[in-house]
Amino acid sequence: MSSGQLGQLLASKEVIIVCGPGGVGKTTVSAAAGIKAAHELGGRILVLTVDPARRLATALGLDQVGNEATQIDPERLTIDGIEARGELWVAQLDTKASWDDLVRQHAPDAATRDAILANTLYENVTAKFVQSHDYIAMERLHDLHASGDYDLIIIDTPPSRHAVDFLDAPERMAEFFSSRLLRWLTVPYRSKLFTAASKPFYSVADRVLGQQFLREIADFFLLFQTMYKGFVERATEVQRTLRDDRTSFVVVSTLEAASVNECQYFMDALDERDLHLGGVVFNRALPKYFTSRPASTAARKLDRHCESLAAELALGDYAPEMVARVISDVATGFLDFSLAATRQAETKARLVSAPGVGVTTLALLAADASDFETLTTISRSL
Ligand SMILES: Nc1ncnc2c1ncn2[C@@H]1O[C@H](COP(=O)(O)OP(=O)(O)OP(=O)(O)O)[C@@H](O)[C@H]1O
Ligand SMILES: [Mg+2]
Repeated sequence: MSSGQLGQLLASKEVIIVCGPGGVGKTTVSAAAGIKAAHELGGRILVLTVDPARRLATALGLDQVGNEATQIDPERLTIDGIEARGELWVAQLDTKASWDDLVRQHAPDAATRDAILANTLYENVTAKFVQSHDYIAMERLHDLHASGDYDLIIIDTPPSRHAVDFLDAPERMAEFFSSRLLRWLTVPYRSKLFTAASKPFYSVADRVLGQQFLREIADFFLLFQTMYKGFVERATEVQRTLRDDRTSFVVVSTLEAASVNECQYFMDALDERDLHLGGVVFNRALPKYFTSRPASTAARKLDRHCESLAAELALGDYAPEMVARVISDVATGFLDFSLAATRQAETKARLVSAPGVGVTTLALLAADASDFETLTTISRSL
């Protein structure tokens, strides 16, 4: 297997964060990159996926959600009789289990830990609050990297509403813990000194929501605040991992307008944050063949001569007018694809101006890319 643009990146980094707009093929590229790395490099490689599509999960043997990594059978990694040099491990991010681990790690004592884990709001809040998923993905990454169990970690990122959310997730988490809202919510429970201004609010809230409910909320936040210091420190460490020299980002995009705009936004966001962009992968691109000049000339000729061609073909039962129409439609259809492919090539040229950023283009495959064999094929093009 030859080493493409991404090959060099995989060889020189310890953490690769694959990001980009929703549905463009982030998980597919992460898995294919893992296969490539396992094949060409030695050592232990982990692909941490986030919410993979059902079929892809099955292809990777990830039928059960869990933070536990599973090793891909070396037999399956054998390509053309050549065995992989390294091991490939895959895991699927389990948000709930990761939060529980985090609480266990940061709770000041066993009683607080148990109280948080048993709090009825805890599960709801951690499962639903904005960026919980993003934060935990970055947190897991940091943990895995710090463990030293893997030589290379490829992390697939969640489809955030705003693709860059997860970059700021650690910082936001730190902000959240020191937020005024949080302090304000817990005021009446932290001290007996109600302010004159907040008293009416709390008595109304008590009546409307019920004292029990309000107390539960306050309890939850108070318990959570005991972990403040640990969390903020952690968030800072996670940020450090993202900025580390051994960490690089790969942006995946398609060449459709909306996706490209988001990709550009993403590249700018990385730049603004001084994060290392190592590569861009354009996925599901139209094959190069569509931009071939002789091919489009041939298509134009077919269209122009469709009637004489139909007559020449003399397809017996079929009316020559209909045959001519089919030839013309096929030819103009090709020209439409040709135009789209040319636009894609232009878009690509415009977008990637940053020096040192490897660009990889992956062709649109006829079938879905969800089986292991197809992932292996894609891995060769990376
Ligand atoms: N080059 C390709 N040709 C054809 N189909 C592809 C290609 N790459 C990916 N796909 C298919 O596109 C779909 C989306 O891919 P994938 O799940 O990897 O995207 P994603 O960016 O991870 O999505 P999400 O943002 O929802 O996590 C899958 O069905 C996958 O098999
Ligand atoms: Mg995905």
